[in-house]
Amino acid sequence: MNDAESLATKSPPSDRLTMPGYRPRVIETQIAQALARVGAVLIDGARACGKTWTARHFARSEARIDDPASQLLIETAPESLLAGASPRLLDEWQMAPSLWNRVRRACDDRSQPGQFILTGSASPSDEITRHSGMGRIARIRMRPMSLYESGLSDGSASLRSMFDGDAAAAVPRDDVSLVNVVEAICVGGWPVNVGDSADARGEASGVGGAIGDYINEAARVEVAEAVGVRHQPEALMRLMRSVARNVATEARLTGLAADAGGDSALASATVRSYLSALERIFVVERQPAWSVELRSRASLRKSPKLHFVDPSLAASLLRATPTRLMADTPALGSLFESLVVRDLRILSQGIGADVYHYRDNVGLEADAVIERRDGAWIGVQAKLSPGRSAVDAAAASLLRLRDKVARRRNTDLAALLVVTSTGAAYRRTDGVIVTPVTSLGP
Ligand SMILES: Nc1ncnc2c1ncn2[C@@H]1O[C@H](COP(=O)(O)OP(=O)(O)OP(=O)(O)O)[C@@H](O)[C@H]1O
Ligand SMILES: [Mg+2]
Repeated sequence: MNDAESLATKSPPSDRLTMPGYRPRVIETQIAQALARVGAVLIDGARACGKTWTARHFARSEARIDDPASQLLIETAPESLLAGASPRLLDEWQMAPSLWNRVRRACDDRSQPGQFILTGSASPSDEITRHSGMGRIARIRMRPMSLYESGLSDGSASLRSMFDGDAAAAVPRDDVSLVNVVEAICVGGWPVNVGDSADARGEASGVGGAIGDYINEAARVEVAEAVGVRHQPEALMRLMRSVARNVATEARLTGLAADAGGDSALASATVRSYLSALERIFVVERQPAWSVELRSRASLRKSPKLHFVDPSLAASLLRATPTRLMADTPALGSLFESLVVRDLRILSQGIGADVYHYRDNVGLEADAVIERRDGAWIGVQAKLSPGRSAVDAAAASLLRLRDKVARRRNTDLAALLVVTSTGAAYRRTDGVIVTPVTSLGP
């Protein structure tokens, strides 16, 4: 039984609002810690990633602020919206931005942790949340499900144990094929699809399906509603397609502008403002460059890489189906790297680590560097192929990275990791750990 299963079989306290069929999420550790520490927790993240359901798993009472009844109360008796068993969920709180200051004040008055959970999507009121509430309201980013949460990964390769230096050999997975992984890329980690029949999942992916609708909605409505950017949906779609073609690369603004241009290149300022709007609705995420002292004279590249919050968005924008991707190794390679980065990010959240990438001016790269707050780090290469030569090359560049970083950071090295799509999990004689993505766990 893996952690997710053992969590699932423990029934939650009965006074919580947990939904039937709720599957455990990795982010719960972080939410539980924050609720024990501060008065209120704000869960934000891409639309439909599971914010409300996870918040209800902790909440003992709730108010849905998008409800007409709540809207009336905001006018007449706003304090009553905060009254109820705590933690109290204020879902879609951004529909009444004035609640923010009331929540802050209530946290001060009650001076008890775990009073409120706020969920909602990006909005113009982001400005309020960015600058106030420090120390009282913790902000936690939620993403779609990792393979571990949706059930494709057994979690036997635990990041926490790699950091602690006691990684057990992962259990071999001969029950998962490359096609399963490619399907997982196209369907994505959207919790609404988890447990669906294969047919329903097939419909969800692709340009015509639910993911295509999601993208259209983001391009046409969400960007404007959430962040008030006046934009041309067609141009935004072209930019999103260009980002999809450049997923997992350090795409430069000028390159994206030209690539998205069609007949006329988009202005750099337009690209910048559209990208920042897509980041604010949590659809696009940067993977920053790792900053580290080098022992050699090489110098670091500082540009972030771009990813969609879920590889299914890029796959849909590229009109990729599992069949087409199986025949297009370069595209599949980038989307696979993006899948690995998504999962590493989600799994790192519970252990207080962040995910970077590494590239220097002599061409040495690491697809991901996971760094814990105490400085411990894991270097990662994603390799679609579990074949000998691919893994050898990936391990060789990780060992070069180890030899290149300054001595102090070398003592902080926790593990070097090659993540493959399928195949065996093992530790090489040079110490590099090899594991399929379907074994990664928190
Ligand atoms: N942990 C979970 N286990 C099983 N299904 C889930 C889980 N979380 C979410 N779902 C499914 O996904 C759907 C969307 O989840 P939810 O409403 O929580 O997302 P959200 O992030 O609040 O979306 P929105 O941004 O639209 O408010 C739910 O209706 C449910 O079907
Ligand atoms: Mg919601």
